[in-house]
Amino acid sequence: MITLRNIEKFYGSLPVVKGVSLEIRKGEVVCLVGPSGSGKSTLLRCINNLEALSGGEILLEGERVYYDWSPHGLKRHSASRIAQIRARLGMVFQDFNLFPHMTALQNVMEGPVQVLGVKKDEARARALALLQRVGLAERSDHYPDELSGGQKQRVAIARALAMKPEAMLFDEPTSALDPELVHEVLSVMRELRDDGMTMIIATHEMNFAREVADRIIFLDGGLIVEDSPPSVFFEANASVRKDSFLRNLSRR
Ligand SMILES: Nc1ncnc2c1ncn2[C@@H]1O[C@H](COP(=O)(O)OP(=O)(O)O)[C@@H](O)[C@H]1O
Ligand SMILES: [Mg+2]
Repeated sequence: MITLRNIEKFYGSLPVVKGVSLEIRKGEVVCLVGPSGSGKSTLLRCINNLEALSGGEILLEGERVYYDWSPHGLKRHSASRIAQIRARLGMVFQDFNLFPHMTALQNVMEGPVQVLGVKKDEARARALALLQRVGLAERSDHYPDELSGGQKQRVAIARALAMKPEAMLFDEPTSALDPELVHEVLSVMRELRDDGMTMIIATHEMNFAREVADRIIFLDGGLIVEDSPPSVFFEANASVRKDSFLRNLSRR
């Protein structure tokens, strides 16, 4: 469903993603792990076009997105076409990125009304249903300031789902949370998995990755060094780099 072909990303002359190829099937859950600075966020941001690619291409359902080849080289799609494509991928960030001046309900309604042109009554009803689904029906009139981190992140997930995405991208969704709030976000993600949502999840939650992932991808220095099911990933004979990465995590 999502195809990455030789994705490269440079910041100035600094290569951060160095040629990543990946095929993600519909309904698959892929966890992206690796040391800080290995390029996880950059790769997710490239998939959602929050960053322009330096090289390679991205296909959704076999169709090249964001760019097309022209006789003069790569040409960016129009802004409106890119906005439509981006709406097919929901994104959840480490630091929630909610609109602070809007209630939970308004946050969830905003995209459908502004981007998809859904009527307000319909958007409100769907937003309430989504807030209920993430366990926040009674918090719908609260502002982000009045919510815990776990609640904010669940609003952010509801907001992404409101766009009816075909896949969800998560960038360390629990890293900014107090430890006791992590489980409420992970359990919402677990339910999404059970509903068959395609997901790419950058995370340091190894137990969660082991439980929900179909594949775990270990990124190091902007390259995929391993792509395997959890049963293989957590085998004893790990590479030296992976071994030290996993050890460092368990020491935190
Ligand atoms: N906007 C940027 N400008 C310059 N360098 C960046 C930018 N964003 C990320 N980087 C660099 O790219 C590398 C990968 O970062 P990132 O994708 O955030 O890794 P991860 O999410 O795995 O921690 C890091 O060395 C980081 O400093
Ligand atoms: Mg990151």
